[in-house]
Amino acid sequence: MDRIRLVGGNKLNGRIPISGAKNAALPLMIASLLTDDTLTLENVPHLADVEQLIRILGNHGVDYAVNGRREKQQEGYSRTISFTARNIVDTTAPYELVSKMRASFWVIGPLLARMGEAKVSLPGGCAIGTRPVDLFLEGLDALGAKIDVENGYVIAKAKNRLKGNRFVFPKVSVGATHVLMMAATLARGETVLENAAREPEVVNLADCLNAMGANIVGAGTSTITIQGVDMLSGARQKVIPDRIETGTYAMAVAMAGGDVLLENARPDLLQTALDVIAQTGAEITPTNSGIRVTRNGHGIHPVDVTTEPFPGFPTDLQAQFMGLMTMAKGRSRITETIFENRFMHVQELARLGAHISLSGQTATVEGVDMLKGAPVMATDLRASVSLVIAGLAAEGETVVNRVYHLDRGFERLEEKLSGCGAVIERLSS
Ligand code: EPZ
Repeated sequence: MDRIRLVGGNKLNGRIPISGAKNAALPLMIASLLTDDTLTLENVPHLADVEQLIRILGNHGVDYAVNGRREKQQEGYSRTISFTARNIVDTTAPYELVSKMRASFWVIGPLLARMGEAKVSLPGGCAIGTRPVDLFLEGLDALGAKIDVENGYVIAKAKNRLKGNRFVFPKVSVGATHVLMMAATLARGETVLENAAREPEVVNLADCLNAMGANIVGAGTSTITIQGVDMLSGARQKVIPDRIETGTYAMAVAMAGGDVLLENARPDLLQTALDVIAQTGAEITPTNSGIRVTRNGHGIHPVDVTTEPFPGFPTDLQAQFMGLMTMAKGRSRITETIFENRFMHVQELARLGAHISLSGQTATVEGVDMLKGAPVMATDLRASVSLVIAGLAAEGETVVNRVYHLDRGFERLEEKLSGCGAVIERLSS
């Protein structure tokens, strides 16, 4: 298994191109199941999760073609990919595939809407919490689907087409919003989704569905209204820049110091996080080509944060922010409200010398003057990258094990950081 070796202490200076967002690309790819026409997606990041979803979609009969390759474009860079689900050959998403990536459960929405049936494995537990699927099932039931759960599979049927309805999410869920929005595009009549997720990835998906001929208004607010149509066609859609990658590198600069332009980054996608990073003492400047982050000389101020659905502080930046706070001049409190078990990085940050105590859903971080490099390992994507950030600021060598977590969500991580002066390399084994 590959590892990443870092030697901390260098400031970061230069430019980091921000890739297309993983969490936008995945639902956009799944939307290709809604039409027999070709859906072309631009700026698709080259990540393990994207490759895995390509395999899963292939199992349902989706063909794909990588094109639009720029002359000097290298393997590993964001790409333009066309997806065509001319014939759905299988409406079953098996356990072996769904258990590898939770988002693959989302195929249930388009398969049910287009084919009138879907049999999708329950995704099961995962490292950051139990993550049930009750909201998906309640929502699809409200659209008239008959739902059974048998032998670890959800079997959903809607032989005479889904039927529009009003559904109020009891809790905000990004995935369930994606799924119900996709399903409702082909339902009969009007669907109103209330207390819907407002994440930018939902807006990206709604824009794509509308380009395919859907009739959706209100995405980005908590009420989304969808008028069902008989069929959808192909379209071309660009994946938005990755706000979590943006926030991660901004925090890396806030921690290690330096001056970096995050190219293509959009401040409106993560304003709350940028405001918090600015409060820690870094300077954040939106420019025509992205976001410039600088921190020179000053200490890191402690700031308390609580994770919330968009537009609040994202749970996907909580671990990285904790990394930053480990070297703040004082005490900060970080409260996780989205997932019940998203603190696996605490133990590992402690291995680097961080002082963190946990009480329920709140971590209290007492900033230390210096972290010291150590071998570390994490069990999820964002936790792993928090260790990279901390390692960049720590004294000496840090080796991050289980790099495959990073490969799921960070395109060319080592190259982007070493291009800004970090000492970082991949050790293949
Ligand atoms: C998406 O997951 C993201 N994944 C996650 O990013 C992100 O952390 C999360 O949204 C929150 O922003 C993708 O976009 C692929 P949810 P999702 O449904 O949709 C509970 C990363 O690192 N819930 O909004 O699965 C759930 O347990 C990943 O890139 C139910 O109770 O998250 C959680 O507590 C990790 N019942 C809360 O809702 C349900 O039926 C929010 O989860 C569904 C969810």
